Amino acid sequence: MSIIQEHVSLLPYNTFHMDVSARYLAELKEVSEVTEFLSLSYATIRPMFVLGGGSNVLFTEDYAGIIIRPAITGISIVDESPEFVWIKAGAGEEWDNFVSWCVEKGLGGIENLSLIPGLVGASPVQNIGAYGVEVKDVIDRVDAVRIQDGRLSAFTAKECGFSYRNSIFKQDLRNTMIITHVTFRLRKEPQPVLGYGELKRQLEKFSEISIENIREAIIAIRRSKLPDPEDIGNAGSFFKNPVVPEKEVLPLQELYPSMPSYPAEPGFIKLSAAWLIDQCGWKGAREGDAGTYEKQALIIVNHGSATGNEILNFSRKIQKSVFIRFGIHLEPEVNVI
Ligand code: EPU
Repeated sequence: MSIIQEHVSLLPYNTFHMDVSARYLAELKEVSEVTEFLSLSYATIRPMFVLGGGSNVLFTEDYAGIIIRPAITGISIVDESPEFVWIKAGAGEEWDNFVSWCVEKGLGGIENLSLIPGLVGASPVQNIGAYGVEVKDVIDRVDAVRIQDGRLSAFTAKECGFSYRNSIFKQDLRNTMIITHVTFRLRKEPQPVLGYGELKRQLEKFSEISIENIREAIIAIRRSKLPDPEDIGNAGSFFKNPVVPEKEVLPLQELYPSMPSYPAEPGFIKLSAAWLIDQCGWKGAREGDAGTYEKQALIIVNHGSATGNEILNFSRKIQKSVFIRFGIHLEPEVNVI
């Protein structure tokens, strides 16, 4: 069956540039191919993993099971009201192409999420976010197929259980659903989110605030701070920013008055993983081909031929030193496989 390939190199499919292979890979271009695939005996192979753009994974060895790549494309307007437009996009669309499509049509809500690598289908899984916006703010519905029985399922935003870099698809429904489409609700009259200081500063270079200019400003900020996976292997932020009980943060704030912190749910404070790592002296550090990016300590990079285990060991050293110095446990944001 042509949708299944055997012994496939995953090198082109992961932004960390890990040279590993998958025993089986299923590339599914239509919802009908997803359901057809699920009726085959291949669908019973375990382990099974749904891979989006591969921009948030670290493979530590060859994958012995089956990798599913949803490659459904298409972007269309499905509904409209005086205020909003609903846009449905295939899970296999490149996220940034989708952002560009919406910005060109003057539809506001995701311009701050410009240039995030990966595919549309992965955006709800980890509730991607940047510069004051999370994708949960604009997701209306997620369509998926249940792996167990091929049943089509639809989730409202509320049912997705979104929180910081998290959703039901990473928790209770982990590895049980193949997301096929995501529907977004965007604004005809954009309401720019400009709370992020650097964005405000970057926008001063433009004569007016429009979503086109915000997109351009975000692209400039990201290009100046974040490594392009085409040039240097990485998967964005390696750890989540830790959300810590207030009472544990207060003594740290006394010791380190300049420590950045952000609001979180009541009783908690979100700290900056980048700052904590930087303070421990890891910014730009390198061991073999594993290292942290010279301009952003939260990004672990593969300088060439680091193995997944070398990256993982390096990340554990960072975790350990942040824990020893600050008593804070950093949790990976990247999926380690
Ligand atoms: N900082 C340092 N040292 C560094 C880098 C940053 O001290 O090497 C300090 C900065 O001065 C700043 C703070 O850390 O006060 C936060 O840095 P930054 O604004 O770069 O954001 P971040 O918290 O490190 C998060 C997201 C990014 C997102 C940016 C912008 C997470 C885990 N990361 O990074 O998302 O692009 O904010 O909104 O939430 C990703 O998820 O892969 C990702 C890149």
